[in-house]
Amino acid sequence: MKILGIETSCDETASAIVEDGYEIYSNVIASQVELHSPYGGVVPELASRAHIQRIIIVVDEALKSANIDQNEIDAIAVTLGPGLIGSLLVGVEFGKTISYTWKKPLYPIHHIAGHLYTPFLKTGKAVSKTEKVKSDSDSANIGLTQAVFESHIHAEKQKSSSDKNLHYPYIGLVVSGGHSSLILVHEPNKYETIGETYDDAAGEAYDKVAKLLGLGYPGGPILDKLASEGNPNAIKFPRPLSKSNDFNFSFSGLKTSVMQYVKEHGLSKICESKNWLTDISASFQAAVIDSLLLKSLNAIKVYKISHFAIVGGVACNKGLRKEALRIFGEDKTFIPSPILCTDNAAMIAGLAFHHIGEVPPADMKLNSQADLSLN
Ligand code: KG4
Ligand code: ZN
Repeated sequence: MKILGIETSCDETASAIVEDGYEIYSNVIASQVELHSPYGGVVPELASRAHIQRIIIVVDEALKSANIDQNEIDAIAVTLGPGLIGSLLVGVEFGKTISYTWKKPLYPIHHIAGHLYTPFLKTGKAVSKTEKVKSDSDSANIGLTQAVFESHIHAEKQKSSSDKNLHYPYIGLVVSGGHSSLILVHEPNKYETIGETYDDAAGEAYDKVAKLLGLGYPGGPILDKLASEGNPNAIKFPRPLSKSNDFNFSFSGLKTSVMQYVKEHGLSKICESKNWLTDISASFQAAVIDSLLLKSLNAIKVYKISHFAIVGGVACNKGLRKEALRIFGEDKTFIPSPILCTDNAAMIAGLAFHHIGEVPPADMKLNSQADLSLN
């Protein structure tokens, strides 16, 4: 069974085709990073407009990359929420339209549930391909002439966490620009949130710290690279909530500590020294990693669960990946390849397979939901 997925919850327009819930045939992502980076964050109005301009191109590219005709598609899956309402709306309305015209059932999927499903996806036959494709956005004069497509197509073998087998129940650490939570995943559609952030998400903290250091957007990959060259013990930033007996996080105080440190020493002086910048990055990153993994470790012990997965954009972080594998063990830790950590539609198409026969398909009254609970 081939499912076409659509994901437009934030600033990535994505479409993918996945067979029988696991095998990725195509995975196309048009990133809007260039569009939002001058503003230091996602501008919702620009995001929804860009989704409208790209959605047809992206879905078309997903079919072409997979070498599949629309008649061969068995079902459509779309992200229902949570996310930016204007962005979600584009995907949901487009999904409804093709579901109606192609006469295929439509399955709405929770964005975070999608992320939690990524360690199950098989990229074994796929290879990452980046193409520059001219998008229709030229005509809209929004200063963006290229859409970047990351496409997974049938090709040689690529190593990924799908070579090992994750099993239920498992603890999932969801770390992205909008979420930091620990979820106990009992089975494909049964989730229990056991911990959440009280304030900023981990990715949000990365983006804000990079912004205050004048490093650009998105902050995660920039700080990750700088951190790899710095000393994680150079500055002792706090590990908020490290002594609390729950599984919650807090990153706002850590961000404020970095801000105070920068104020105290002066940004221009810090920026004159590459070593100083790398040490701040490494020390900040060490505090984030310690906080995330300490609570994950507590959860694994308390719930007596052996398998652990890290998903979401921050799971791309090289330091976090290395430390998690060291602490929890390579055979018990599941972190998808980076292309499946950031927002994508393969996770939406893959999870939808497990909804078929379990829940009825959606009708044309389906509405996107900015706030949508996982539990
Ligand atoms: O999952 P995602 O693509 O979108 C959301 O649903 O939010 O995550 C984006 C977030 C951004 O905050 C970005 O800075 C962060 O993931 N990120 C990273 C890295 N790559 C992306 N954070 C830390 N290290 C990275 N290498
Ligand atoms: Zn996401």
